[in-house]
Amino acid sequence: MALQRTLVLIKPDGVRKGLVGEVIGRFERLGLRMVAMQLMAIDQALAARHYGEHKGKDFYRPLIDFITSGDVVAMVLEGEAAISVVRKLMGPTDPAEAPPGTIRGDFAVSIDHNIVHGSDGPDSAKREIGIFFPNLPPE
Ligand code: CMP
Repeated sequence: MALQRTLVLIKPDGVRKGLVGEVIGRFERLGLRMVAMQLMAIDQALAARHYGEHKGKDFYRPLIDFITSGDVVAMVLEGEAAISVVRKLMGPTDPAEAPPGTIRGDFAVSIDHNIVHGSDGPDSAKREIGIFFPNLPPE
């Protein structure tokens, strides 16, 4: 498996709870390389681009309201099979199903407030990295 890049967001609940160091540490300890990172606010337009695939779903409006409710930390991580490695560390989207030892299993309270986002495949990783870090030099 070749090197991959993935986009990770530490969502407003993760930043508010002071979990930025904890979450980044878990990725770093597994050997993922930080390629880009920024603390930033997501505005309505950026949120709509990032979560465009969910438009029309019943959780879309709460999702947009939540992701724009406070600062996030956006980062690009690189490593062997980085997309699935990150998803394994995060645990399932619904924290009720996330086992202890995963980020969501340890820290998240609900599917709406689940601490982190990670790209779900190579196409979405490419798209999401382009949205958040348009000037990042290619691999
Ligand atoms: P995330 O990986 O950021 O992608 C979309 C988000 O929508 C997801 O994490 C959840 O926080 C949120 N969400 C809320 N309800 C649902 C649902 N039923 N299925 C998937 N995602 C949901």
